[in-house]
Amino acid sequence: MADAEMAKRAVGFAAVDRYVTSGTCIGLGSGTTAYWAIERVGERVRAGEPIVAVATSSTTERLCRERGIPLIPFGERELAVAIDGADEVAADWSLTKGGGGALFREKAIALATRMFVVIVTPEKLVERLGAFRTPVEVVPFSVRWVEREIRTRFGVEALPRGGDTPFVTDNGNLLLDCSFGSIRDPVALDAQLREIHGVVATGLFSGLTDVVLVNGSDGGVESLAPRGDARPAVP
Ligand code: A5P
Repeated sequence: MADAEMAKRAVGFAAVDRYVTSGTCIGLGSGTTAYWAIERVGERVRAGEPIVAVATSSTTERLCRERGIPLIPFGERELAVAIDGADEVAADWSLTKGGGGALFREKAIALATRMFVVIVTPEKLVERLGAFRTPVEVVPFSVRWVEREIRTRFGVEALPRGGDTPFVTDNGNLLLDCSFGSIRDPVALDAQLREIHGVVATGLFSGLTDVVLVNGSDGGVESLAPRGDARPAVP
């Protein structure tokens, strides 16, 4: 296995081993790092542990089914913990998410869970969000108008994901990837974007992260210490 994949596997497995307890309902994220958390949960379920899950995307649903992880609809039970990757983690633990297009369900689950554990490899750690284009999910009818509004209001590029072959989210919506550059206030920017009629959700996640797990230089997995306005970790 390549080193990059080994690193994702290490944080994914560590998150499940440290924070998932038997008999609970958990949220499972999307993407190539969350993949390894799903893999680990599958191992534990097949070993007989009663764990049920809510999936953040249709891809994660399929991976869970293939591994025998029981799924329940979102909202049916309280979520003890949710584990997900991120495209960027800022010093204040705000996140950019949605590189894989699953931002709406990922945010729904991050908002609802008692503990939100973010798993990343070190290159995802940044001082401020924004080098990674911010995904914005938009109702298809409004996409051209929202694209223009974002250009006019913020003076930035809003690129439809997929170009001539639009990427369609699990909710039947479209995505605009916006180049805001260095984002000083992700809370305010998220609110301003959601004020535009037609915007469903943004990939800016603030005040939701409880734990950040990242690969350490010694080959182990570290729990990042909170900085700035980061929400302190739940014990
Ligand atoms: C999916 O929509 C995303 O939010 C992912 O969690 C994010 O893109 C990280 O994915 P990787 O772990 O594949 O980098």
